[in-house]
Amino acid sequence: PAASGLDHRTLETWETIWGGLSLVLVWLLFVGVIASMISGTFPQLSGGGHAAVGRGRIDPAQLEVTPFARPGLVRTAQGLELYIVARSFTFTPAVVHVPADTPITVHVTSVDVVHGFQVTGTTINDEILPGHVASFTVTFRHPGAQDVICNEYCGAGHHTMMTRFIVDP
Ligand code: CUA
Repeated sequence: PAASGLDHRTLETWETIWGGLSLVLVWLLFVGVIASMISGTFPQLSGGGHAAVGRGRIDPAQLEVTPFARPGLVRTAQGLELYIVARSFTFTPAVVHVPADTPITVHVTSVDVVHGFQVTGTTINDEILPGHVASFTVTFRHPGAQDVICNEYCGAGHHTMMTRFIVDP
């Protein structure tokens, strides 16, 4: 009968419309989750959630126009800031003298692959990604040497990759 044929076509049309809409919704949800992972809205999904208090973006090929061009300790209007560059298989500077009982904001970035940055004997332990800056503020209370190691496997020289903070009284 012609009437039921028409009904069937109408149903098919609605099915197509709702089927299409649900695909669009799933796609939007997918794109939204990926976008927020990339932008860091959910840092726990994008591998964050470490001791770092801040993360900025940086172009690893353009470090010479940033404070990372001269790694080391600098005094700025914000206080003492320490810039450290990680590359396979060194940290620059190799040794840093820092004053005790003074807050220091440390910024670390990588020029090549993912490295780790762990200050032994402290809770400072972060992942250093090329294109990103990990920043955290630390106050060393006890004079003496504090080793910093790379704890993300980064290649053949990984186990030799370290730097050292010498905390001056
Ligand atoms: Cu750098 Cu492991």
